[in-house]
Amino acid sequence: MLPVELTKQKIKDLRTKIEKKNSVFSKKRFLDSMFLPSKIIGRENESEILLKHILSLKDGFVVPFVSVYGRSGSGKSTVVKFVCENLRDIISFRFVNLRKAKTVFGCTNMILSSLGDKSLSSAQGLNKAIDCIQEQIESILKKENNKFFVLILDEYDVIFSDPRSNPSDFVYKLLQMEENLREKGLWNCTITISNNSLQEHDLDDRVKSRMGGASVAFAPYPQSDVFGILQDRAKKAFKIKISKEVLEYCSQLSSSDHGDARRALDFLRTAGEICNGTQITKGDIDSAQKYLQKDKAQEIVSSATYHMRCVVASICSLAIVNEQSWAATSSIYKKYTEIVSKDDKPLSYRRISDLLVELENSGLVVSRAYSRGRNGYGKEYKLKVSPELVGPEVNQEFYESLIKRKVEIDRNKEIQKTLQSLDKKPNWYRYSNLLENL
Ligand SMILES: Nc1ncnc2c1ncn2[C@@H]1O[C@H](COP(=O)(O)OP(=O)(O)OP(=O)(O)O)[C@@H](O)[C@H]1O
Ligand SMILES: [Mg+2]
Repeated sequence: MLPVELTKQKIKDLRTKIEKKNSVFSKKRFLDSMFLPSKIIGRENESEILLKHILSLKDGFVVPFVSVYGRSGSGKSTVVKFVCENLRDIISFRFVNLRKAKTVFGCTNMILSSLGDKSLSSAQGLNKAIDCIQEQIESILKKENNKFFVLILDEYDVIFSDPRSNPSDFVYKLLQMEENLREKGLWNCTITISNNSLQEHDLDDRVKSRMGGASVAFAPYPQSDVFGILQDRAKKAFKIKISKEVLEYCSQLSSSDHGDARRALDFLRTAGEICNGTQITKGDIDSAQKYLQKDKAQEIVSSATYHMRCVVASICSLAIVNEQSWAATSSIYKKYTEIVSKDDKPLSYRRISDLLVELENSGLVVSRAYSRGRNGYGKEYKLKVSPELVGPEVNQEFYESLIKRKVEIDRNKEIQKTLQSLDKKPNWYRYSNLLENL
C-alpha cells in the first residue's frame, strides 16, 4: 500500500482531532522538571547548611568550593537556585548547566557564555579562559554593585569524563581565580552540583586540601515529601482534581528505588496526557511508567556506542536466559566477550567496569555491593527497566534469539522434570509417557 500524502487538509484534520481531545491541564508548565517552584517542600536542613557556607562571608571568610551532591531528582538544582534567588541583596550569581559540555575547555566556554562573554578556541588555552571568567565576574559585580559572586556549576561530573584534560588542573585554576579576586576585595564561591561528592572523585591531594571539605548531601526524598511536592504541583497544573489515592500511588511508584521528585512529576504529567480526559487513574500512572521507561531505554540505547550496547545486551541476556536479575561485573564481562563481534577486539575488564558506572549514572541500571569473602567486595548490576523493554532496543534479532533460547531451556527443564518423576513410576508407565513427551 502506498503511503498517504500529507496534505494541508490532513494537517487541519489532525489539528482538530488534537484540539477536540479534552485536556485535563490548566497550566502544564507546573509539571515541567525545569520549572523553578515558588514553594519548596522540605529540605530545610540542606538549605540551612548551604546558607551557612554562603553567609560565612559575614565573618570575613568565604568557602571557595561547596560540593552539593545526591541522587537524581533529589532537588539539588532546585534548592540551590531557590536559595541563591533569595540572597540577591548580598550576592550576584550565575547558574551554568554543564551537561552538554564534552571537554573541560567546553565547560569554560559554557561558563563564559552564561557570564555574557564570547567563546574562546581551545588553542587560546585554559589560563586565558580562566582570566576571561575572572574579568566577567569583576564586571558583573561592579554592575550589580556587589562584592560576592556565586558561580553554580550544575552537572559538574562531566569534567571527569574528558580523558584528555586534567580536572585537578581546572579546579586548581578556579581556586587561584578566587584568590586573585580576594586580593581585589571581591569574593567568589563555586558551588558544584553532581551525583557524587567531589571528594570521591579523582582529584590531586593538593587540590582537595585547598578546596576544603564544604559539602551538602541531599538524601533521596522520603515518599511523604514526594507526595507533598506532587500535591502542590497537581493543584496548580490540572483543571481536574487528582485523587489522594492516585497521588499516593504515584509517589510510591517513583520512590520504589530512591525518592525521585522528577520521576514522580514526569509520571503525573504523562498520565495526564494519556488519560481519558476526565480523570486520572492508577492504571494511567502504570501506563505512564511503562511509556517513560521505554522512552528512556530507547534514548540511552540509541545513543550508546557499540561496546556499550554489547554491555547492555549482556545484562539482558543474563536476566532473560539465566534469570539472573542481579549480575556480577565478572559475569557481565564474560558474557560481553562472548557477545562482542569476532572482528572487534573486546575492551578491557577495567573499561567495562567504567561503562557500567556510566550506565548507572544514565539511570538504566542500579548497583549494589556484595561480599566476596576474603577477596573484598564486588559489584552487581540490575536493569531498572524490564529486560523485555530494553532487549528489542538493543537489537530486535538478538532479542528474539534470547527469547528462543529461553523457551528451549524451559522446555528442556520440563522434559528433565518429567523424566525424573518417571523414575519413580512403574516401568510400563515410564515408557508410555516418555514417548508422548518427546
Ligand atoms: N523540595 C522540593 N520542592 C518542590 N519541588 C521540588 C523539590 N525538589 C524537587 N522538586 C522538583 O522536582 C524536580 C526535580 O528536581 P531537581 O531538578 O532539583 O533535582 P536534581 O537533584 O537536580 O536532579 P538531577 O541530579 O537529575 O539533576 C523539579 O521539577 C523540581 O521542581
Ligand atoms: Mg539537577
